[in-house]
Amino acid sequence: MSGQLDTTKDYHSYANTDQFRVAHLDLDLDVNFVRQRLVGRVTLRIERVLAAATNLILDTRDLEISNVRLEVPGKEPINLKFEVGVSDPILGSPLSINVPILSRDQGDDILIAIEYQTGKVASGLQWLEPSQTADKRFPFLFSQSQAHHARSWIPLQDSPQVRFTYNATIRTPRDLFAVMSADNDPYAMRDGEFTFRMPQPIPSYLMAIAVGNIEFKPIGDRTGVYAEPSILDAAAKEFEDTEKMLEQGEALYGPYRWDRYDLLILPPSFPFGGMENPRLSFITPMVIAGDKSLVSLIAHELAHSWSGNLVTNATWRDLWLNEGFTTYFQNRLMEATYGVRRRDMEKMMNYNNLQRDLARLPEDRQVLAVDLRNVDPDAGFSEVPYLKGELLLDNLEQAFGRSRFDEFLKSYFNEFAFQSITTEEFLEYLNANLLEKYPGTINADQIEQWVYQPGVPDDIWIPYSAAFERVDEQINDWLNGAVPASGLETKQWSTHEWRHFLQSLPEELSRQQMEDLDTTFGLTGIGNNYILKDWLLHSIRNDYEPAYVRLEWYLNTFGRVIYVTPLYAELAKTDRGRIMAEQIFEEASAGYHPLTIAAVSRTLAPKEQ
Ligand code: BES
Ligand code: ZN
Repeated sequence: MSGQLDTTKDYHSYANTDQFRVAHLDLDLDVNFVRQRLVGRVTLRIERVLAAATNLILDTRDLEISNVRLEVPGKEPINLKFEVGVSDPILGSPLSINVPILSRDQGDDILIAIEYQTGKVASGLQWLEPSQTADKRFPFLFSQSQAHHARSWIPLQDSPQVRFTYNATIRTPRDLFAVMSADNDPYAMRDGEFTFRMPQPIPSYLMAIAVGNIEFKPIGDRTGVYAEPSILDAAAKEFEDTEKMLEQGEALYGPYRWDRYDLLILPPSFPFGGMENPRLSFITPMVIAGDKSLVSLIAHELAHSWSGNLVTNATWRDLWLNEGFTTYFQNRLMEATYGVRRRDMEKMMNYNNLQRDLARLPEDRQVLAVDLRNVDPDAGFSEVPYLKGELLLDNLEQAFGRSRFDEFLKSYFNEFAFQSITTEEFLEYLNANLLEKYPGTINADQIEQWVYQPGVPDDIWIPYSAAFERVDEQINDWLNGAVPASGLETKQWSTHEWRHFLQSLPEELSRQQMEDLDTTFGLTGIGNNYILKDWLLHSIRNDYEPAYVRLEWYLNTFGRVIYVTPLYAELAKTDRGRIMAEQIFEEASAGYHPLTIAAVSRTLAPKEQ
């Protein structure tokens, strides 16, 4: 990448945040399911940072803006000149507004009201037909703003460097229920109007809304679940340990600063596993396995309440500060809730995944602070910020000892609470408060190697799982023919062991081996959606048609990007598979989120060269 990188600059926003800063939003929106649009107004309260600034630039994508006004208390609003610039495929369109210098008696804050509606497609929203929901009776709408999609449903400064509070009035069809990343009232009347207040300042990527036939069930004093009625009880049961995890989080790294922590279970097309929307994490229904085996996802989204929502990455280059810290914290919550055996398996699985990701990624994507200039953050997504970040923190914990490292992390969350920081600001804080405080342990050069160099350093601490070692022995016995599948000792295996088993098998298996596994363990029909994905990958690789009906069902049901794209990618490796992938995608894409459509399209696009 040419040119000098400015580490403090957000290359994914047009906003001129050195001149103006949004401090508060008032949203007033109608949710129109017939036209599939949000229609209404946002009023931005803006501080003029640079006294002479008159050109406010906001981020938008595919928004239809009808009017921009300056609101002057006690006076008639003044229409302002505005212009929507040409659309960039990554950034969307800048909205430039001419903001006159106000006279003294008009106060320092500027109130700008923008009338708009969302476009035919909004990259940050998915509108679902009743048939795409659990109960199949009512339509559903949800947002996914991270990384740079809030701009597709609200014109704002769409940069993680800007924090604001917000209030909202949301009008819905009667009988539906609206929730936001704010102070939800679980018992609000379904009278077609919902109001919200979010008193803690948040960055734009945490703006969130969902509307549907949503009900609430409490878990504990500060925790509960929102979901469609038919899955509410199962979800509340699956995630019943959430309150305990919240308390453990506080015991580790200080008070939970967001009042409540609730979960919203989305329809299966949700493009992520989870999204840490403040006070209300959004969660895929895929993880309701019936045995709590996939709840590390909840630990992860909860952990973001500290790493991410409280201390926020300044740019998408610094995503590892959100995701690496959160993955480390997630493991700590899993250990505290379910013990070290499970923690070791989860860490080991992450380590193996990291190795696989490093093997496929070009070197410039293997660094923690990844240069994303001219790169769509969605396309630049990988496991590296998560798992290499986690491994770095594991190594710091090992080197400095848990109590010193915990003390450091707690003070870090406190020091930078409600702020956004860059990788370099973190490194400076780390040097002063850990490396130099306990000299002779790990030095700054070693850390820089982790952060700026590809791969991982030599001679580091890596995780170990005794349980997985036993699985490896079973794999050997089966592969060398010593025992048939029915002779494997799998009775005590949890989801984790099954996943490790499937992920460790060679890519090439004979038809007889596939049949042996399937007839013995019923893998094609298995109910756990994570294990099923691993099995479907083998089925594609080895052209095992008995699993194809299930494969089609999977790809037509779920829209989670990192679970469906590998299946499409595997199919696309052969000519016949590619035809099948394209046929399935043609049908399934009608139910996919815009992000999933984009990701699968990238996967199936002929490779440029
Ligand atoms: N914040 C992320 C999701 C995200 C990251 C969206 C970057 C857009 C850009 C969320 O917390 C997350 O990491 N989800 C993971 C969870 C998993 C690692 C436990 C997911 O959805 O798979
Ligand atoms: Zn995360």
